[in-house]
Amino acid sequence: TYVVTEACIKCKYMDCVEVCPVDCFYEGENMLAINPEQCIDCGVCEPECPIDAIQPDTREGSEKWVEHNRAYAALWPNIRFGGIAPEDADEWRTVSDKLTQYFS
Ligand code: SF4
Ligand code: F3S
Repeated sequence: TYVVTEACIKCKYMDCVEVCPVDCFYEGENMLAINPEQCIDCGVCEPECPIDAIQPDTREGSEKWVEHNRAYAALWPNIRFGGIAPEDADEWRTVSDKLTQYFS
């Protein structure tokens, strides 16, 4: 599977959503999640994200993000169309520790 990671938090550019052939993105208040059971590993969403927030689960340290994506995809609504990024999205591009401080 591919997973959405910390960088997405409060950036949520949404460029990734529409390219997914199986519509497996789910939308939370300030980040998205991929349902690992639905993702077919095509990889087309990865280069769409302008801040490289999407990565394959083969990358080191991905385990916690697989579980994060799995848990929240089960709670959040499915989305098929991209939306508008938050107005202040660019200000969050370089912020670190977003998961512990700003995730909601
Ligand atoms: Fe969708 Fe392909 Fe990205 Fe998986 S890798 S979330 S199937 S676009
Ligand atoms: Fe998030 Fe990147 Fe998609 S910031 S919403 S993973 S385009």
